[in-house]
Amino acid sequence: MVALLFFIGCFGFILYPTLYSAEDYEKEYPLQLDNEVLRICNESNIDYRKSLYASALYDITDEPSTTQRNHQQHQPQPAPQQPPSNGTEPMIYFVTPTYPRREQIAEIIRLGQTLMHVPRLHWIVADDTDSCSDTLNKHIRKFGIPYTQLASPMPELYRVRKNAPRGVANRRAALNWIRQNQKKTGVLYFGDDDNTFDLKLFSEIRTTRKVSMFPVGLIGDYAISSPIVRNGRVEGFFDSWPAKRKWPVDMAGFAVSLEYLALSPNATMPFKAGYEEDEFLKSIGLKMGDIEPKARNCTEILVWHTQTKSSKSPTVRISMDRQKLDKLNLGALLRQLESMGVNHISDSAGTTAQAIVNGSVKPLSFWFS
Ligand SMILES: *[C@@H]1O[C@H](CO)[C@@H](O)[C@H](O)[C@H]1NC(C)=O
Repeated sequence: MVALLFFIGCFGFILYPTLYSAEDYEKEYPLQLDNEVLRICNESNIDYRKSLYASALYDITDEPSTTQRNHQQHQPQPAPQQPPSNGTEPMIYFVTPTYPRREQIAEIIRLGQTLMHVPRLHWIVADDTDSCSDTLNKHIRKFGIPYTQLASPMPELYRVRKNAPRGVANRRAALNWIRQNQKKTGVLYFGDDDNTFDLKLFSEIRTTRKVSMFPVGLIGDYAISSPIVRNGRVEGFFDSWPAKRKWPVDMAGFAVSLEYLALSPNATMPFKAGYEEDEFLKSIGLKMGDIEPKARNCTEILVWHTQTKSSKSPTVRISMDRQKLDKLNLGALLRQLESMGVNHISDSAGTTAQAIVNGSVKPLSFWFS
């Protein structure tokens, strides 16, 4: 422990020369976003999606079987989830903070496939890393969604805290990107990679004039966090963790128009775990009367904080020459998992990798003997 602190201390000394004592850990990082390094890894402004969102929801391309066809005659056509795009709707800047862990790529695939259905969306994926992840990029770009990949590491002085403010450096980097690129029309939304988004959410938030709010399922001890709406107006909040917050809402429970955001050049998000939403909304000078309730006056749940159970990446022990595994599918398969951080391969530790052939367990070397 002492060695660890010493190491962090040395590291901190290099990055933050003023970091000497324990109180300094509590010092807030400068609130201004200016002068923060913005590391853009990859970007695409081209929408490669083949109007998936315009027609796919109406077409059923697979030829139905006879019984299905007969059945379908009696079925009403499903209502389209979203109006077809005319290419001029306000852009949605969808900000996803992410961090390397073994579930990362699986989460990104699931979210990307949701976003594939959403027209006029720019996906800002901000990764909590010092360097740009090629593996992450490979998986983001394949969706054909216009995107920006950022490398936005949490400052070391916060990383060592018990209740580290996760996702803040990422969202600040996204705010910085929006500012530096002079994006002044459209809508900003913070959508984490472990949430579930109903496609209807996107057509709801797209028309945000200032700030829109709506319920988020699976939050806290009420399993919901929502504005309280009366006569079409937000008058309060229903959230099991008041914590003296003026705006006790979840990160996924609001959207902000960029026109409105641009009125607050000092808008920011502090490194303060639990208070990110509250402080951000205060920094844009939000007033109760500015809030538009969405999701049918906050009676519908269009976003869920699903969360993914996180577990440690297992170590798989393979003591034979791994190159030999390239003669099997296992070479490529295991390399991929390692590059995604899903597992680790070791020649001396972990669960021994074995094969099963006709019901009996064999060492992997079985294929090469
Ligand atoms: C929300 O409530 C107001 C006031 O009751 C009503 O006028 C409005 O139509 C409602 N909005 C929706 C989308 O249902």
